[in-house]
Amino acid sequence: ATTLAGAAQESGRYYGTAVAAGRLSDSTYVGILNREFDMVTAENEMKLDATEPNQNQFTFTNADRIVNHAIGQGKRVRGHTLAWHSQQPGWMQRMEGSALRQAMLNHITRVATYYRGKIYAWDVVNEAFEDGSSGARRNSNLQRTGNDWIEAAFRAARSADPGAKLCYNDYNTDNWSHAKTQAVYRMVQDFKSRGVPIDCVGFQAHFNSGNPVPSNYHTTLQNFANLGVDVQITELDIEGSGTTQADQYRGVTQACLAVTRCTGITVWGIRDTDSWRASGTPLLFDGSGNKKPAYHAVLAALGGT
Ligand code: G3I
Repeated sequence: ATTLAGAAQESGRYYGTAVAAGRLSDSTYVGILNREFDMVTAENEMKLDATEPNQNQFTFTNADRIVNHAIGQGKRVRGHTLAWHSQQPGWMQRMEGSALRQAMLNHITRVATYYRGKIYAWDVVNEAFEDGSSGARRNSNLQRTGNDWIEAAFRAARSADPGAKLCYNDYNTDNWSHAKTQAVYRMVQDFKSRGVPIDCVGFQAHFNSGNPVPSNYHTTLQNFANLGVDVQITELDIEGSGTTQADQYRGVTQACLAVTRCTGITVWGIRDTDSWRASGTPLLFDGSGNKKPAYHAVLAALGGT
């Protein structure tokens, strides 16, 4: 295979990217998207502030541009995200308690129902754990509605779209020895033991010099998979350049390939200039759309040429 998606498919996996609706008129961008990737995540367009800007008024225009483009090109879609402390619309930011719990469940039901049958996997809940050594839940208005808010979110998503895989998604959960990784692991273990509907765990994988790819990455992915869930690398980017960056991308690719239940990898953007990182060069294509050494390392690791 000569593309990322083609090579990933050889082992039954996918290779995806985040897509911004505003870039779908850029022919270089769309050319690379259509050629290289077979899974699409909306970078911002399916988030709470985008889809429910006013309470009970749902807007899917920009999200649909991405979903329709993906499906029209034979690609699948990861839904991102149904419940998150960040990028909430103003009305939700000001809510607490049972009213917020009800609004969250309504949001999940309405959005997941609208896209029912079109989504491979939903990031049902995003970034619900604290950074650092506490292993605690992140304090947020959603968390303050009660510790069971995450399982309530998963149950609502399952009812609305029984065919979608339901994921918990977070960052800084790559290193097996970190408290946050352990805390998420215990939650997934608890959900599986009590029959809370969870199918997958997403590892965002935003790496840089302060947060490098850990040497135990494969262990982390395998330990989660052993709980009986799929694992996916959902927002990969790695700061750096040249062979150093290429080596890290190769390592992440190999870690996923070594875990049977690691079903795919998504990079968080196409060209360096499309990245959410204001400066830096964390992606697989340069600003002109040329393949970087990191691209060739990933393609080769996937078995392509
Ligand atoms: O929509 C406004 C637009 O109207 C305005 O003109 C423009 C001016 O700056 O801002 C636009 O909103 C920005 C939006 O991206 C769309 O470009 C927001 O300010 C900006 O905060 C937002 O950043 C996004 C970020 O999530 C917000 O949390 C990034 O694009 C997006 O890549 C990033 O993605 C997150 C994942 O969802 C979760 N994991 C971490 C990841 C990286 O931060």
